[in-house]
Amino acid sequence: MLDQQQVVLSAVQPSGNLTVGNSLGAIKNFSAFPDARRFFCVADLHAVTVRQVPADLRRRTYETLALYLACGLDPSACVLFVQSQVPAHAELAWLLGCHTMFGELSRMTQFKDKSQKHADNINAGLFTYPVLMAADILLYQTDLVPVGADQKQHLELARNIAQRFNGVFGDTLTVPEGYIPPTGRKIMSLSDPTAKMSKSDPNPNASLFILDEPDVILRKCKRAVTDSGNEIRRGEGKEGIENLMTIYECCTGQSDEEVAALFDGRGYGVFKEAVGETVAEHLRPVREAFHRYMGDRAYLDECMKKGAEEAAYYARKTLSKVKRKMGFVG
Ligand code: TRP
Repeated sequence: MLDQQQVVLSAVQPSGNLTVGNSLGAIKNFSAFPDARRFFCVADLHAVTVRQVPADLRRRTYETLALYLACGLDPSACVLFVQSQVPAHAELAWLLGCHTMFGELSRMTQFKDKSQKHADNINAGLFTYPVLMAADILLYQTDLVPVGADQKQHLELARNIAQRFNGVFGDTLTVPEGYIPPTGRKIMSLSDPTAKMSKSDPNPNASLFILDEPDVILRKCKRAVTDSGNEIRRGEGKEGIENLMTIYECCTGQSDEEVAALFDGRGYGVFKEAVGETVAEHLRPVREAFHRYMGDRAYLDECMKKGAEEAAYYARKTLSKVKRKMGFVG
């Protein structure tokens, strides 16, 4: 579908434990573009917009990279890198910040939400967060950005910034498109199936974490909120069962019809147990690979170094172009 020239970029913040939503959704979507030039970033600069314990941030940065690798992202086929190790991100963010309006940033719903949640720390970084995200994207002349629906507004802002910059200085930055995964594949919370499964959900039973042990996964699936019926099918008011079907189908590759036929007349208890066992089995190799990678710090360091060098090569090109256009003495 895509040719060699096409660029796909996405990023995850190292700010929590990754969920099956991340692995079945974001990372899998990302793998869906094998022919594109792919960048996958650990957005550690974004993470410090809320207070982080330094040792935790460092560990999570390694863990996020280890998870990418464990989920099958291949460092020789895509550029896996840590944002703070490529200084061009912060530099371009400053330049783009001078082409972003206060009013635009004030309208970002994530800023409004987060400033409510972190009322004691409404810092400038939290406010300009979307400019840094635009820099992440525009730095690589990205065509396609696989993101969750919650990032749509930020992506739209990145497009506006690129268009505005191009309008003033002539064609410089590729205007990116969002790639919101097809509906129905979104993984929802187990305790409230109308809300997205989130790595920062305060209720630990709401999310299946990639690194949860099998017994924990089984328990969470058994407790998942469902309606009071007993039919395994999609439909009005059956969000909980729909979500479990989605998770099950993502792991097994089966269709709605196959799943409905398989569990016909067997009730929710049996189905929930099957989902738990399937997810646990599906995640087993990921979990094992994760622990293997985490045990090899030297390899992770090597990956980071290689990724940062590769990313910097492309980033430098765009940054010099932007600076030249704006009139900086090179
Ligand atoms: N803001 C995104 C999130 O919280 C993470 C992110 C940072 C990102 N930079 C990006 C996503 C660039 C896509 C492209 O999910």
